Order: sequence, then C-alpha cells, then structure tokens
Amino acid sequence: MAQEKIVLAYSGGLDTSVAIRWLQEHYDAEVVTLTIDLGMVDLESIRQRALTIGAVNAVGIDGRQDLVQEYLFPALQAGAIYEEQYPLATALGRPLIARYLVEVARSEGAYAIAHGCTGKGNDQVRLDVGVAALAPELKVVAPIREWGMTRDEELEYARQHNIPVEPSNSRYSTDENLWGRSIEAGPLEDPWNEPLEDVYMWTKPLQDTPDGPTYVELEFVQGVPVAIDGEEMGGVDLIHQLNGMAGEHGIGRIDHVENRLVGIKSREVYEAPAALALHTAHRGLETLTLSKDQVRFKARMAQEYADVVYNGLWYTAHRQDLDTYVASTQKHVTGTVRIKMHKGSCTIAGRRSPHALYREDLATYGQGDTFDQRAAEGFIAIYGLPVRTQASVHGRAGAVE
Ligand code: ARG
Repeated sequence: MAQEKIVLAYSGGLDTSVAIRWLQEHYDAEVVTLTIDLGMVDLESIRQRALTIGAVNAVGIDGRQDLVQEYLFPALQAGAIYEEQYPLATALGRPLIARYLVEVARSEGAYAIAHGCTGKGNDQVRLDVGVAALAPELKVVAPIREWGMTRDEELEYARQHNIPVEPSNSRYSTDENLWGRSIEAGPLEDPWNEPLEDVYMWTKPLQDTPDGPTYVELEFVQGVPVAIDGEEMGGVDLIHQLNGMAGEHGIGRIDHVENRLVGIKSREVYEAPAALALHTAHRGLETLTLSKDQVRFKARMAQEYADVVYNGLWYTAHRQDLDTYVASTQKHVTGTVRIKMHKGSCTIAGRRSPHALYREDLATYGQGDTFDQRAAEGFIAIYGLPVRTQASVHGRAGAVE
C-alpha cells in the first residue's frame, strides 16, 4: 500500500528541514513540501533543498499578488494596526499560507498538513484555525510542538540524518513578507535592552539617513494605493518600491511589548516602512473624505479588525461582515496624499481629493467666506439650552454647595 502523504509548509530553515525527516520517521508518511514566496524568497533553491532531504515533491507558489490584493489592502483599508503599533505583516500572511496548504493537500491527496510553529506563539493558532475553517477533514501536525528538541538536539538530529543545514549566525527568530519583518528572541527577550543595529535589515539608522527630506505622492482609488509620484503600478511593485524609499529614511521601526493570544506578553521588533507610510497616507485621505461619524466609528472597527486578524479569525463570517462595512466606507477614499519622509518620520505634507468634504469657502477666514456667521447665534441658543436650563435650576455644576 502506498504511504499516506503530509504537506509540510517549508521555509528551508533548520526547524522545517528537520521536520521533513521527522515526519517520515514518526508518521510513516511521504512528505510533500510547500514553499510560498510572500515577498523575498528564492523558491527554486528551497525546493531543491527539500528534494535533497527527501521530500517526494516540492511545490513552490508565488503568493505575492494574492497576499497584496486579498489580505494586505483590505487590512490597509480597514486601518488595522494591532495595539496601535503592529501593522500585522506576519498575521496577514498566515491565513494565505493556510489556504495554499489546503489547496496543495487536496491536489496531492494528502490526509494532513504540517507546519513548523512552536506551541507558544500566535502563528500555530492562525494556521490550525485557518485550516480547520477551510478543510475540517484535514489533520494538522506541528512537529516542533510535539518533539520538544532543543536547538542543539535539532542540529544533532540533522547531523545524524545527513540533513544539510545552512549556517545561521542570527540570534533572532524572524519572519518576513512584503508588509514587514518581525524579529524576536535573543537579546530582545529582555525588554530593557535597546535593539541592536543587527536587528534591522530594511531600515537605516538615523545617522545614515539623508539630511534632506523626500516628498512622495501616493495616489489612492477607493482606499487602494495605485501610483507613486504619478506612476501607476501594481500593488506588489508599489509596496516593494515604497519599502525601499521609506526604509532609506529610517521609517518603520517598531519596538513593542505585545499581548499574544496564548496569554504571554512578548517583546517584538518590527520593520514595516511601506505599511507605515501607506497607513499614514490612507488615514490622511480619510480625514478629507469621510464624515466625522464615519471617521470615529471606523476607528472602532479598525481595532476590532486588527484583533480578528491577530487572533487567527480570518476565515470567519465576522471578518467578512467587517470587510463589508470597510468596503462601503472606501467609496470616496480616492485622491492623492503627499508624504514627507525625513529622519525616521513620515508625515503628511498635503492631501487632495475630488470627493473632499473639506470646503475652503466654509473654512476660510479670508475672502470668499460663504459661512453664515449670524446663523451660529441661533444654533448656540438651542445647543446650549439644556445647559442653561440645568444651571438655572441646579446651580452651576462644580460650584461649592
Ligand atoms: N508577534 C508577531 C505576530 O504574532 C510576529 C510573529 C513572528 N513569527 C515568527 N515565526 N517569528 O504576528
């Protein structure tokens, strides 16, 4: 009888390389690896490594387009930033990885999927719950959660099984996609330690950034960025280019002690130059094109949306409901924002929109004022009526009795 198959999410690193052989041994299964490019992955060399270690098939998928269109831009439109700091790069990549794992498991006829998450993080939850939503019949195996090997034991296992290991001298655990880099562990585990420069790969230290500012015009159509400085481009290229431009100015470094779903507080460092610039610009355009009520209510939705993404609940009706609301708010979020990047800060220098609710003829203190100032008198008389009434009956609030 042919052996049963497991599809393993494969990054090419030590954990998942060891997992290929470990799954063969402990589950008596054939292992198909799946490697996904969400931004900067050399698919071919990772596929080859999987085959060398003993995978029966090594699938590679370029997921950048799907990531941007179906996950990153909806989250940008929603204004989703976890605990007011983290633009959710890792968290937004996981549901897409779950989806591809399920697709490949089905096309390969596999009975299970496997991933290299530990038992302490959010990512295991996002993948397990994502797969459960999309394919409840599939079993999920998490070797690292099960085997309890230390890093040295893994290295020893790799040596015994002739698993080629890329020498890695990084002291950190990292994850990255187009929307950002996540860095944790090593010296960062002490929240008193300032992150050392070797943490950062995408952003320059301020002493090395240009002395003068760079201005960039970002154009949005219904809340989606479509052009940089008048040049239209697809989302993948746009984010890629903006990561370079903003990173050059040291924009997008985030140092956060965050609350994980599993109850642990953890110290996380992020680099997210493009995400930060785009969120800043998008919010700026919304201030011009949404009503006061929309801006305020949407801010509450943004928090909920971020929690849903962070907590692994992408494939839920609740997230779909939130998306419907968000999409409706974006109808008029079209226009251009000019941002100014300088010495680590990204600020809005100008904004304009054909749908702007801002009216200069109403706001001006100069020529051409169309606001009827005399109407304010009647408005205030009625607006202040309950205050005047209560004060005359109960006395002035705050007065000494
Ligand atoms: N704390 C972040 C999150 O939960 C980043 C996780 C990084 N993952 C990793 N495998 N290093 O989204």
